[in-house]
Amino acid sequence: MARTPLIAGNWKMHKTVSEAVALARAVAAAADKRSDREVMIAPPATALSAVSGAVRGSRLILAGQNVAWEKKGAFTGEIAPAMLSDCGCAMAIIGHSERRHIFGEDNAMINRRIKGAMAHGLIPILCVGETLDEREADQTMTVLEKQVRRGLAGINIVAGDKLLLAYEPVWAIGTGRTASSAQAQEVHGHIRDLLAQLFEKGIAAEIRILYGGSVKPDNAAELMARPDVDGALVGGAALEAESFAGIINF
Ligand code: PGA
Repeated sequence: MARTPLIAGNWKMHKTVSEAVALARAVAAAADKRSDREVMIAPPATALSAVSGAVRGSRLILAGQNVAWEKKGAFTGEIAPAMLSDCGCAMAIIGHSERRHIFGEDNAMINRRIKGAMAHGLIPILCVGETLDEREADQTMTVLEKQVRRGLAGINIVAGDKLLLAYEPVWAIGTGRTASSAQAQEVHGHIRDLLAQLFEKGIAAEIRILYGGSVKPDNAAELMARPDVDGALVGGAALEAESFAGIINF
C-alpha cells in the first residue's frame, strides 16, 4: 500500500516571527512543486499565526511542537489544541525526546496529549526513541514498545491518516550521527508489527512512520528508500530553506 511521504521540519526554539515568515514562504514554494509528497513545518508557537497567514493557499502543513490535553484553563505555558487549530495547524508533535528528557514528560502525559489532540481534530505525531545506553544494552525494542503501547493506551485509530509515528533515536538527534537505513528499517518494521497488534492490520499498514535524527539532504534518499520509512522529521537541516528543500526533493 502506498503511503505518501511526509517531510516534516521541527524548528524547535528557533526563529523570530520575521525570520519564520521568510523561511516558511521559501518552504511553501518548495512544497508546492511536489504533489507526490507532503511537507510540514512546526515553527515556534510565537510565529504560528504570522506563518499561517503567509503560507495560506499553499500545500504546506503546519504543526505545533507540543499540545495540551485540556480545552482551556490554568495551565501556564501550555497551548490548547483549539489554539493550534486557530493558528492553522493540522498536526502536533508529541513526545519529542527533548520533551521527555529535558522537561520530564512521561508516557502517561504523552498519552493524555495524544488523546487531547485527537479529540480536537489534530493529527498527532508520536515520537519514540531509545538512548545510546539503551541501544547498547539491547533494550531498543523493549523501550520503544513501552513508549508506543503506553503512548497509545486507550486510543482507537479508525483511519490510517489520523496518526503518525516518528522514530527518533536519541543518540542521533542533533549529533550528526544518523541511524543507518538498515537500523531505521529494522525498528520501523517492528513498530508497524506492534501497530498491527494495537489496531487493525489494514490501519497499521496505512500509518506513516517517520525517521528523525540528523537527516540531511545527502542521507535522506537512502533512508526514504526503505519500505517502512515513510518520511522524515528534520531538526537542524530544516532551519534553512536550501537544505530543507534538498530533503523535500530527496
Ligand atoms: P536533528 O533533529 O535533525 O537536528 O537531528 C531531529 C529532531 O529532533 O526532530
